[in-house]
Amino acid sequence: MDEKIFNLDLQQLKDIVFDFRKKLENGLEKDNTEIACLPTFIQPKKGKVNGKSVVLDLGGTNYRVATVDINENGAVIHPENGWKKDLSVMKSPGFSEDDLFKEMADPIYETKRDGEMPIGYCFSYPAESLKDGDAKLLRWTKGVNINEMVDKPVGKPLLDYLNKGTDPKFSNIKIINDTVASLFAGLTKPGYDTYIGLIVGTGTNLAAMMRPDKIKKLKPSDEVDMNALIPINLESGNFFPPHLINIDNIVDEHSDKKGAQRFEKAVSGMYLGEILKASFPLNKFEDKFDAQKLTSMMSYPDVYKEEYVRVARQIYHRSAALVAASLAGLISVLHDHDNSIRKIMLTAEGSLFWSSDKNGPDYKELVTEKLATLLKELGLGDIQVDVNQMPNANLIGTAIAALS
Ligand code: BGC
Repeated sequence: MDEKIFNLDLQQLKDIVFDFRKKLENGLEKDNTEIACLPTFIQPKKGKVNGKSVVLDLGGTNYRVATVDINENGAVIHPENGWKKDLSVMKSPGFSEDDLFKEMADPIYETKRDGEMPIGYCFSYPAESLKDGDAKLLRWTKGVNINEMVDKPVGKPLLDYLNKGTDPKFSNIKIINDTVASLFAGLTKPGYDTYIGLIVGTGTNLAAMMRPDKIKKLKPSDEVDMNALIPINLESGNFFPPHLINIDNIVDEHSDKKGAQRFEKAVSGMYLGEILKASFPLNKFEDKFDAQKLTSMMSYPDVYKEEYVRVARQIYHRSAALVAASLAGLISVLHDHDNSIRKIMLTAEGSLFWSSDKNGPDYKELVTEKLATLLKELGLGDIQVDVNQMPNANLIGTAIAALS
């Protein structure tokens, strides 16, 4: 096959940047848009955040629990990287809300707590932030479908469930998206004009701080502080970019939610293997073919067909180029909102973003190079974007939310 079909030239990437920009602006104006731009009504406390919380992190298929103690010297996490549990079972048909709570509760009850503590819950699915710090689930992504949970608060039912079976009780629960958690973690590094959170793992998404006067869809009843920036969860995984190809349509046809998350289906770890499989429809591949498999193909090519390795690398490169285009679109909007922005801190999480190719440039390098080219093309070449890798950014950012 001709692997060049995955190549996006500069003009095509610019089309994607402009389309992203337009749809982002639309999301700031109206509800229920392709790029949803969900405001988060939790603003990190000004000044020092201090205290202990229990942090839950429910991502693609992994679940983590930790206690996080934030003090003058930084964050202390117990156990070191959180208590990990594989929760791929949540994708099984018939898996219920009660099953989920039970799976989640076991490790929470194991954690050592001193007195009543708040919970911070990093929930990596589209959810609309509520004024009390909870959030309402809009829809599932990444192959999960626990229907009875949709359109309902995510936090309160879990808090009630947990408090039935434990003493001391939990005092409160706050829900934030993983991109917003990364962004909050980045805020601990001062000296930047603005902050972005990016995830490229099983799924993909972006978050940024925005001026309330630029978020036209905010209502007076939202009661936001007009002088403070609002964290926006873009839900950029649902962007439908121009210049996708027929192979992307085939991947979408065979996916759990046809038509949704088209950007995510071209970019994120859960789908890159599916793109490779769809590129060779007559050949047999293993069922579980994720991004890790794809990158190991590129790093250890000797045991694979040369053609597979070449195509795998093109898919990897296109994914990074698409992420760069979405970032350039977001940055150009942020710059329109505030022309003085020069230095941006981008806190990135996700195994694909931090993956490497032993025989070529790593994912992060591919993204930053393309982003620099695109920013220059947009006349924004003087903007500096520092990519921040912070161990346990999600846990720290969520603890900041729990204590804010
Ligand atoms: C979800 C986002 C999440 C992203 C990364 C997407 O599927 O819709 O809410 O931030 O995955 O985990």
